Amino acid sequence: MEYVFSDRVSNLKPSAIREIFKYAADPEVVSLSAGNPSPDAFPVEAITEISERIFRENPISVLQYSVTEGYTPLRNHLKEYMKKYHNTGNDSDDILITTGAQQIMDLCTKALVNEGEVVICEAPSFIGSLNTFRSYNAKLVGVTVEPDGMSMTELEEKLKANPNAKFIYTIPNFQNPSGVTMSLEKRRRMYELARQYGVLILEDNPYGDLRYSGENLPNVKSFDTDGMVIYAGSFSKVISPGMRVAYTIAPKEIFQKLVVCKQGNDVHTNIWSQRVCDEFLTKYDFNAHLQHLRDIYTKKARFCMELLDKYCAPNITYHRIDGGLFIWCDLPEHVDMPAFCKKAVLNKVCVVPGNAFLTDETEECHSFRINFSTPTDEQLEKGIKILGELAKDL
Ligand SMILES: Cc1ncc(COP(=O)(O)O)c(C=O)c1O
Repeated sequence: MEYVFSDRVSNLKPSAIREIFKYAADPEVVSLSAGNPSPDAFPVEAITEISERIFRENPISVLQYSVTEGYTPLRNHLKEYMKKYHNTGNDSDDILITTGAQQIMDLCTKALVNEGEVVICEAPSFIGSLNTFRSYNAKLVGVTVEPDGMSMTELEEKLKANPNAKFIYTIPNFQNPSGVTMSLEKRRRMYELARQYGVLILEDNPYGDLRYSGENLPNVKSFDTDGMVIYAGSFSKVISPGMRVAYTIAPKEIFQKLVVCKQGNDVHTNIWSQRVCDEFLTKYDFNAHLQHLRDIYTKKARFCMELLDKYCAPNITYHRIDGGLFIWCDLPEHVDMPAFCKKAVLNKVCVVPGNAFLTDETEECHSFRINFSTPTDEQLEKGIKILGELAKDL
């Protein structure tokens, strides 16, 4: 049989970096390439207790079909929580529970972007979102990420040059992959530019609660008096990614379209997971749990940066982080970064080549991303030591 795929997917090619991940399947390879929460970070006892209680008291309530918008108490509690702690969401917004934040990117693109229209992204940016935008044949336009967030001069140029831009996709806190946090000044400027050019903002914030140093900054959505911002939050990095529960706070008119799009995607998000998240949020000390996660990751992040200083300086430089799960490392400009990453994996340590996160993967790039939340301390030390040794030979 000769299969003929849709124009939409026939353009999608497996990424060159998969080559490297093939080697990472070897159990001897230290993987610094994932982005999973640490095994110590899961509230296993609470999740077990809540699930047992639900199954004892009312099993059918989580085994039956449910509503597309999401479990109503969870939506209400999240509305309150996000308003109280993050001044996020107002009367003209509504909240939709989704199957991971990944689905928010999908629904927003489906609802807002025609083929060939532009999505402005940070360069580098999260590969999962970029691939979703690509799958709708959106044109990706990258804006350079600087140490305090994307360049606002470049953003304005790109907005001027692309009147068919539909939204600006941004990860303002501890960005994946660069680790960069956008300054308050840039958050405000981005909002102003979005308003001036009539382009929406999709604010993706899965790591905002994982700050290890410095002051929390307001969400861009907290400035939103004009219905310009769609906010994406997720329980993946603070409860469990396997449960697939996330939420979007969006202007009501957009919310309604997202609901219709979601009906066609998966009808509703797993109701059992939603119930567990709701009880964990309301009947347990969620803020104490977040503090516990910050304690775990602060230690790991510091340890990882100490290892980079000890084994890799001055050949590999990196950007110090205030939160999140990733560190972006730079090789000297003369070094062939993809060849370095390949050599690393052959020497049993896997990192992600930086060009995988670019809107144009073929652009020259001298950086790679490492993750410190998944490996044990021993694995981190082993992996970073190998990177340092390889870097000495550059
Ligand atoms: C920036 C960013 N957005 C979205 C996601 C997807 O998260 P979820 O598990 O909620 O789909 C991730 C996952 O790593 C991410 O890093």
